[in-house]
Order: sequence, then structure tokens, then C-alpha cells
Amino acid sequence: MRGIVKRFPGVLANDGVDLLVRRGEIHCLLGENGAGKTTLMRILYGLYQPDAGEIRLRGETIRVASPKAALSHRIGMVHQHFHLVSTLSVEENIVLGLSEGTGPFLRFRRTRAKIHRLAEEYGLEVDPTAKVWQLSVGQQQRVEILKALYRDADVLIMDEPTSVLTPQEVEALFGTLRTLVEDGLTVIFITHKLDEVMEASHRVTVLRKGKAVATVNTAETSKEELARLMVGREVVFRVEKDAAELGGKVLSVQDLHANNDRGLSALQGVTFDLCSGEILGVAGVSGNGQHELSEVLTGLRRATRGSAILEKKDLTNCSAREIADLGVAHVPTERIRVGTVPTMSIRENLILKSYRTPDFCKWSILNEKAAYENACQAMTEYEISAPHDGTAAKNLSGGNIQRLVLARELCGCPGLVVAAHPTYGLDVGATEQVRKVLLEQRARGAGILLISEDLDEILQLSDRILVIYEGRIMGIVDAQDAVLEELGLMMAGTGQQEVSA
Ligand SMILES: Nc1ncnc2c1ncn2[C@@H]1O[C@H](COP(=O)(O)OP(=O)(O)OP(=O)(O)O)[C@@H](O)[C@H]1O
Ligand SMILES: [Mg+2]
Repeated sequence: MRGIVKRFPGVLANDGVDLLVRRGEIHCLLGENGAGKTTLMRILYGLYQPDAGEIRLRGETIRVASPKAALSHRIGMVHQHFHLVSTLSVEENIVLGLSEGTGPFLRFRRTRAKIHRLAEEYGLEVDPTAKVWQLSVGQQQRVEILKALYRDADVLIMDEPTSVLTPQEVEALFGTLRTLVEDGLTVIFITHKLDEVMEASHRVTVLRKGKAVATVNTAETSKEELARLMVGREVVFRVEKDAAELGGKVLSVQDLHANNDRGLSALQGVTFDLCSGEILGVAGVSGNGQHELSEVLTGLRRATRGSAILEKKDLTNCSAREIADLGVAHVPTERIRVGTVPTMSIRENLILKSYRTPDFCKWSILNEKAAYENACQAMTEYEISAPHDGTAAKNLSGGNIQRLVLARELCGCPGLVVAAHPTYGLDVGATEQVRKVLLEQRARGAGILLISEDLDEILQLSDRILVIYEGRIMGIVDAQDAVLEELGLMMAGTGQQEVSA
């Protein structure tokens, strides 16, 4: 790609970007939130037309007018936010848009065989008949990857594919990628995780503020250098954490049971306490009940048995609004669908929980000035970069949407914070900042339930770590004494099992 320019109203997303990718390599694209990575790849995939610049593929200048054209050039893309139809099954999603049938009939046997073969070959197991809405985020991502492979992609673009995968799944994916490039495929891979860049890529291109600032060989660089290229300053990788000052019980969960979307038991008697001033990490492989736990605690899912008590107030099966009003903050995994209203502006999204309060409303009339001031303050404090506060949430870059959600949820001093993957999709600078914010909340006396598949993050931030497996607690350990291997074993369902709440 040469001299690619792309403007959006008020933003120069790509400012003359050059990107050279060699056949058979894994090429990482790095850059801060809003640097223009997704935009550049959407241009390559035909979703956006560049304002200037050219694309050459296998020596020929091509015009990629649409994703369909991209696919005909054998360019495939796995998006940062999934483009799946949630009411359709996995196999229906995979063949959607292809002429895989005879007349009105789909030849599922053949499709299924091919899906099965790809899944097996690349370790992307998923039930082809399951409906997409019933799958965990991690599984949905596998469907996206399968979709691209099913279309015989030769250049595979992946926009932050590992953010939602577990360490084991990431390893498996890297195995997949290596097999792919050995077969002569080319992979362009966007990520914020520098460890992954170092482990998986051959070369790296760093974008900053819409410009490509460097392309380096992975073998000749370091995490520190990459971080510096990205943010333009030194980055601290370790968090400094003071000893916990535990207060009274914030949350007491007793024998909690709940079902998942498929109606199967997802939580089977979960019991634990969380104190004020404490970060309790929830470790587990995705799909073991942590998602359901966060939903029950925030009123998005019914508990079938047991209770959750916030200080002295029983919040079992209260509505999401009642729970939010009690001072419970929720940073959901699916930040677009659950965390924001995509078509609403930043300003509106920021007051979704507080628009009825006297701060923003008088005699049922919204105080636009207060909403505007609130937005300006949040945008500065959380460094949400956007042309203005009226920008629709859906037009923000991935990391900026996450900042928006954090800004809304952490204002107003919540007593309990349920944070699922709070640094998902954030660049190194922003990750550093979010971790700091969570520690500030902890120092202020909030109880924090930190759900994450990033064990490093859990180990760095948590005071205690709870390991969940198949809806049961395998053990709760002090973070200081936690051993990575032991946690891994418990996450896989073996090891310690005395439940010490
Ligand atoms: N459809 C759009 N309309 C308006 N602005 C957009 C649109 N898409 C992207 N932008 C803006 O272009 C800039 C670059 O966004 P892009 O999504 O490419 O960033 P990114 O590098 O992928 O960041 P992240 O790491 O946060 O995903 C951002 O300021 C974003 O708000
Ligand atoms: Mg992006």
C-alpha cells in the first residue's frame, strides 16, 4: 500500500501511509488507539475507498471496490468487532453470501465437512449447528476466522484477533498462523500485545497518528523500542501496587446458580465475598461461567438459586437499573453491543446511567449544557479522541469505545466495579492508565471484581484470585502466593478444590 490517505469528517485517519508486506510473512501492525490501523486494513479489504494512494498486490495495481472484490483477490479479514448474524447458525454464517447450494437448498453435508476439516487442521473447534448468539466471544471469533479460511483467503487480515482468546487459544492460533504462512499465505495482524508481536511476527510496522513511523524486523527489536515508537515515550510495564487496605464486605455471593443462553447450567453454586478496597480476580478459560456471573451481578441475567448481597441490600434478580442506581459499575465484555448505544453520540452515551438525575434533568427536560460539560470533562480525563462530543459511538476506534465505557462507569464513585476484560483492545499507554484507574478505585474503597483471561493482568492487579471452572469455584488463592502453573491447572479443572470463601 503506497501513500494511502483517508479522511473522515474532522479526522485524518491515514496520512500517506506506506505498508509493504512480503509473501509468507506474519506482519504486525502496531499503534495507539485511533492511530489508523483498522482504517488502513478496511481500505485493503474494500470497506473504505482511500482518498489517495495505491494498492499493489502480487505486482499488480488493484482497485478494491468492495469486500467482494477483496475476496476475489483472495484477501480475507477477521474484524475487530464481529460481523456475524447472531440468529443464524455457525455454518449458515460461514456460507452466508456464497453460492454453496443447489437452487434453494444448501448442501450442508459438504459445507460441514469442509468446516470440520478446517477446524481440525487449525484447532478452531466449534459446533457448526450452534446459533451464534449462544456462543462465547472466543468461540464467535473462531467462526470469523473459519469464515475467512473457508473463502480460501491467501492474505489474511486479523484485527486484534487474540484480545478475547485464552492463553491456550492464543498459542493454538499462533500454531495455526505458522502453518498458514508455511503454506505460503500471508498474515497481517493487528495487536496491542507486545509479547505477541515478539513471539509471532516476522516484521512490524508501527503507525502513529495516521502515519507509518517505522517498519522493523522483529528479531532486531525489543518490546521497549516498539512501545517507544508507538507512544513516543517510555512505558512502564509493571504496575506499582500498594498493600490492600481492606474495609468491610461489599459483596457477598452465596450459592449462586444461573443458566447460560442455551438454558444449560452455567453457574453451579458460586460462593465468595469481596471486601471494600480489594481487587478479586476471576481467572478461567472463557465459557466457564464468568460471563454469566458478571451478568447476574449487574441485573442482566436471572439467578436460578442463591443470592448476591451488596453491603446490606439484596440485589439478587433486581433490574439492571436498580443495581446501577445502587452504585454498581459494569464494564461488559461486549463493549459495543452491551456497553454503548452505537448510534448515539459520545455525549449521550456518557449519561446513559445518569440522565434522570437532577444533575442532568429538570422537569423531565435534559440539561444539554450539563451533558456537554460532562462530555468535555470525560473526554479530557479519559483521553477519548474524537472530533467532538457529538460523534456517534460507532465511529470511534475500538480503544476509544472502551475508554468511553470506562469513563461512564467509573464516574460517581461506584461501590462495586464488575470489570470484564477492562483493557481489552487498549494500547500500552491506555492499559497503563486503566490499571492505574482501577487501583485508584481500590484505594478509594471500591470492591472490584476483575474478570480477565489475561493471567498476567490478573496476577499484577488482584489481591486474591478466584479460579472458575464449569461454573464452580476451583479455589481462591492469595495473589502473592499464586503460582502460574497451579492457576493453569485449576483453570483446566484439576488441582485445588477446597472452597475457601
Ligand atoms: N467510519 C468512521 N467515521 C468517522 N471517523 C472514523 C471512522 N472510522 C474511523 N474513524 C476515525 O479514524 C481514526 C482512526 O481510527 P481506527 O479505527 O483506524 O484506529 P485504530 O488504529 O484501529 O485504533 P484502535 O486500536 O483503538 O482500534 C479515529 O480517530 C476514528 O475515530
Ligand atoms: Mg482498530
